[in-house]
Amino acid sequence: MRKKIVAGNWKMNTLPAEGVELAKGVAAGRSEVCSCVNFIVCPPFTHLSQVIETLKGTDIAVGAQDCATEAKGAYTGEVAASMIAALGCEYVILGHSERRQYYGETSETLNKKMAQAYANGLKPIYCVGESLDERKAGKHFDVCKQQIEEVVFNLTEEQFADLVIAYEPVWAIGTGETATAEQAQEIHAYIREVLASKFGAAAAECPILYGGSCKPSNAAEIFAKEDVDGGLIGGAALKAEDFLAIGKGF
Ligand code: 13P
Repeated sequence: MRKKIVAGNWKMNTLPAEGVELAKGVAAGRSEVCSCVNFIVCPPFTHLSQVIETLKGTDIAVGAQDCATEAKGAYTGEVAASMIAALGCEYVILGHSERRQYYGETSETLNKKMAQAYANGLKPIYCVGESLDERKAGKHFDVCKQQIEEVVFNLTEEQFADLVIAYEPVWAIGTGETATAEQAQEIHAYIREVLASKFGAAAAECPILYGGSCKPSNAAEIFAKEDVDGGLIGGAALKAEDFLAIGKGF
């Protein structure tokens, strides 16, 4: 049985006090959602430790939104995976399309970040997905395949066992436009096939999350698909009620 995961990517939102309130809200309503759902919240670096403190004693995990390519040293402004791990984070989002698009992250960068994450015991949530132009040109399968081959294929079997993949079509992020459940299933199944070509039966155990305008009103339909194991949620993760309601979509 694959893990069911609902992860909230808060992006560059919430001041520390607001983040703590949001985490308290998620914790307060958590018992209304099946314990079979694994919740993860990913706040900005500045309040990771406060959110971790707030969620102590709950089963809600915390992740960072990025980590540095290097272990430590003269890299002004960067945050090392070891620092994130020392706070008590369990996950780290890597390769989000916003980082690929605005900060020039490439497979080369991401290979280094993945290595840092694993070296420090963090589980990566590795994001893949195509742009609108790529989708229109029918290249979405190839784009996802390449993003996986160039990074995920470098992992060992042991590392792969801790990986979470998020399929996030760029055209559906923050746009209100969601991939249909069928579109999600089609590409999730394809991604699993690509993973199986390298990792064999272990691919059946890898959680593949959908991300892109996922909300309480569409989560159930998307999560009902065989190869969709949950969601990576942006906007709707900023309201505890909506985030929890998405969890009820299973
Ligand atoms: P939205 O849910 O706001 O579309 O964002 C999705 C996302 O990018 C999560 O990482």
